[in-house]
Amino acid sequence: MLLKVPEVLPAPVVTRIRSVIEQADWSEQRPVGALPGVPARLNRQLPEDGKAARAARAMVLDSLGQSVMFFTGALPKKIFPPLFNRYDTVANQFDNHVDTALRTWAPTGTQVRADIAVTIFLSDPREYEGGELVIEDHYGTQSIKLRAGDAILYPAANLHRVQPVTRGVRLASYFWVESMVHEDERRRLLYELDMSILALRARHGESAELARLTGCYHNLMRMWATT
Ligand code: NI
Repeated sequence: MLLKVPEVLPAPVVTRIRSVIEQADWSEQRPVGALPGVPARLNRQLPEDGKAARAARAMVLDSLGQSVMFFTGALPKKIFPPLFNRYDTVANQFDNHVDTALRTWAPTGTQVRADIAVTIFLSDPREYEGGELVIEDHYGTQSIKLRAGDAILYPAANLHRVQPVTRGVRLASYFWVESMVHEDERRRLLYELDMSILALRARHGESAELARLTGCYHNLMRMWATT
């Protein structure tokens, strides 16, 4: 399931995050993959445990915690601490790849199974050219470029790449989620059900049928969720 979550970061939070990370040291540049089978990669990373990344990460996590749509779509068990990257016209390349299945957060040794990959756009589309996140799924190739503050959630198992940036700077936060519901199809069903229940309740108020549907949601969660 590809899920766009609009405004997961409200505009004032995007502004605050950018004011922190834009002044940070982006000198770390990942080299182009030189080994066979390793995708070419050249972008800039904010040092993971630096002051700027820690401050910006706290703001991202705070906003994620308030997003019903993010929670419903991801059903997070563990969230890998959000990271930050920067593509410009020099460091602008990340070829097709599938994300590593298991991620270890070095400072604590915590392991996260990457079920869902998340990108939160921090630059507006008009600030740069290129830089689309291209995801290959069962329905073909999706090209994603969202407004600052919007997020895209997609299965980490999918092949994806970032198109070269040809003008401007593309800033983003990215991370992975280990979900309480491992299977993408099950998460999609739960998401559809939950969102429909919320919409029905908003439109018609409570009803006996809605109570039964809500029961179905929780009983599916009971069957499928691991904690
Ligand atoms: Ni990736």
